[in-house]
Amino acid sequence: MKILGIESSCDETAAAVVENGTAILSSSVNSQIQEHQKFGGVVPEIASRRHTENIIPVVQDALDQVGLSLEEIDGIAVTTAPGLIGALLVGVNFAKGLSLATGKPLIPVHHIRGHIAANYLAHPELKPPYLCLVVSGGHSHLTEVLDYTKFHVIGRTRDDAAGEAFDKAARAMGFPYPGGVILDREAQKGNPAAYRLPRPKVDGSPYDFSFSGLKTAVVNLVHNAAQKGEALPVQDLAASFQHTVAEILTGHLLMAARDYHYQTVAIAGGVSANSGLRTMLSQRCEREGIRLYFPPLSLCGDNAAMIASQGYFEYQAGVRAGMDLNASPSMPIDECVWQ
Ligand code: KG4
Ligand code: ZN
Repeated sequence: MKILGIESSCDETAAAVVENGTAILSSSVNSQIQEHQKFGGVVPEIASRRHTENIIPVVQDALDQVGLSLEEIDGIAVTTAPGLIGALLVGVNFAKGLSLATGKPLIPVHHIRGHIAANYLAHPELKPPYLCLVVSGGHSHLTEVLDYTKFHVIGRTRDDAAGEAFDKAARAMGFPYPGGVILDREAQKGNPAAYRLPRPKVDGSPYDFSFSGLKTAVVNLVHNAAQKGEALPVQDLAASFQHTVAEILTGHLLMAARDYHYQTVAIAGGVSANSGLRTMLSQRCEREGIRLYFPPLSLCGDNAAMIASQGYFEYQAGVRAGMDLNASPSMPIDECVWQ
């Protein structure tokens, strides 16, 4: 079964064709990062306009790459929530138009479920149940993946998402947006033990995350150094920050794996590209005899192959959308309105 996936929840316009949820036949991603960079973050209004301009060429490219016509597609999956509402609406409306014109089924997809599904594209042998840490720019979730479309969230962030913390810390250190990947690169040249940074805990909720105190500690260090006119060893600070976040994320995931009796864990989302997190988790999982899955770097960030993959599993579970489908800026991963 061939699913066309469409993604426009933030600053990437993407389309892809995936067969049976696991084989990428084509993938096209148009990133607007350079345009948003000069504003230090995504400008929603600009993102929506660019999606409107880019969506047809991107979908056409995904079909052309594999030489398929719309008639040969079996279903149209689209990111419906969560995300920037104006950006989401472009993809949702376009997918509705395609579905109406072709008569192909329309399948709504939760963006974070899509991030998790990126693992099925790289590791088709991975099958629920397992435990997944999803860390992106807008979300940090620790969730049981009970089935492809059934989730039970056991931890979430109380303030900043992990990617947001990376981006804000990076900004304080003087790196351009999106800072996460640059902070990662600089961290690899620094000493992770140079700074002892706070590891905030959430009272009474051991699986929840809190990153704002850690981010504030970094911002204060940078400001204090600037006030005293001291040069800050920024690579050491980047390495210490990255090491601390990796310890928090690894600690939570492995504690939950122990408590909930999981031998298989996965990570997903933009921050799952982080080298410090990947290395630390790989070492700790190997030591504890836990199977760890993470997506290849090419599938960590936003793309439509992951949406087409999840769309396949939603379709198998009987999920369909009508022509009244609407986008939503927020929606819990375990309570999608269409289920
Ligand atoms: O999943 P994603 O592409 O978009 C959302 O759904 O939010 O995640 C983007 C986030 C950004 O905050 C970005 O800085 C972060 O992922 N990110 C990283 C790395 N690559 C991307 N953070 C840390 N290290 C990286 N290598
Ligand atoms: Zn994303």
